[in-house]
Amino acid sequence: MLPKYSCVRWALDLSQWRPTLAELSLATACLQAEEKARLMKFYFRDDFDASLIGRLLMRKFVRDTTGIAYDQIRFERDGRGKPFLVNSVLGPCRIDFNVSHQGNYSVLAGIVERSIADEPPVKIGIDVMKIEYSGGKPLTEFFRLMTRNFSDAEWRFIRSRQSEAEQLKAFMRFWCLKESYVKNVGVGITMNLQKISFKVKTDDVAKGKVVQDTVLEVDGNLLTNWCFEEHLLDEQHSVAIAFENLGKMADEGTFKVLGYEELMEGALPLMEKDNSYCQRVLEKQYKRFQ
Ligand code: COA
Ligand code: MG
Repeated sequence: MLPKYSCVRWALDLSQWRPTLAELSLATACLQAEEKARLMKFYFRDDFDASLIGRLLMRKFVRDTTGIAYDQIRFERDGRGKPFLVNSVLGPCRIDFNVSHQGNYSVLAGIVERSIADEPPVKIGIDVMKIEYSGGKPLTEFFRLMTRNFSDAEWRFIRSRQSEAEQLKAFMRFWCLKESYVKNVGVGITMNLQKISFKVKTDDVAKGKVVQDTVLEVDGNLLTNWCFEEHLLDEQHSVAIAFENLGKMADEGTFKVLGYEELMEGALPLMEKDNSYCQRVLEKQYKRFQ
């Protein structure tokens, strides 16, 4: 029998991705028209690529898990911009997914639930952050400016770390946790972030060592129907995934780094390829990668 839940965690390293015109024409033909127009508005190529890959991750996830034909999948965004699947999913099955892109990576977390009864749906949110600080000001000054985004307990944990590098890592850890939560709920940053306080039980997140025991208190109350997963994709990239209504963790939480070929396997264009659009994309400047 299939397990009740299966969870997908995918990452694609954009710093290595230099598509040819042919690859870019196929990738951009796999976008819905309104998203294709939205992407063109990005000034920098890095931002264009990150968002494009996010859309392609969503389409692959839905095709792989529901069997809906690649070119028939239709996404919309809710009032706050969160993408959702419009097609109905057949069978006693539900899915949810969320995408994030920052630093070198675009990432997706998705969940498939089988044999659903009257239980509330499992919802998911994800955030990735590059662990870097280039703000100019001393780190202590930056932390002071960020005071109201973290609870006193979270600041105690961050400041208890030995070096500035460790403090920054802890800061990004909490940042990702908070974002994964607000992205799950779908509200963006309209929430009072000081009321959301994460309690860390495992001091360090390391590459290949997923942390699943962090808990969340909102207004001092422990949220029992939420669980969190934390990853270090590499020494510089922190990820958090927030699950609501999961009960307990579905598995031990392995991230898979996809290559571009794997991402595009079986991809069917939704529209005609558009070389003049792609030429304009190729003219965009990179801000980070050359
Ligand atoms: N809820 C959940 N997911 C959303 C969303 C929403 N309201 N709006 C968009 N998304 C999805 C989309 O797939 C989006 O990709 P796209 O931009 O290519 O369409 C993706 O999430 C973006 O996520 P991410 O790369 O993590 O962006 P972000 O960290 O800038 O988050 C918001 C953007 C809208 C989700 C929101 O949380 C925000 O404005 N955050 C600002 C950061 C902040 O101050 N956080 C405080 C934490 S201490
Ligand atoms: Mg983010």
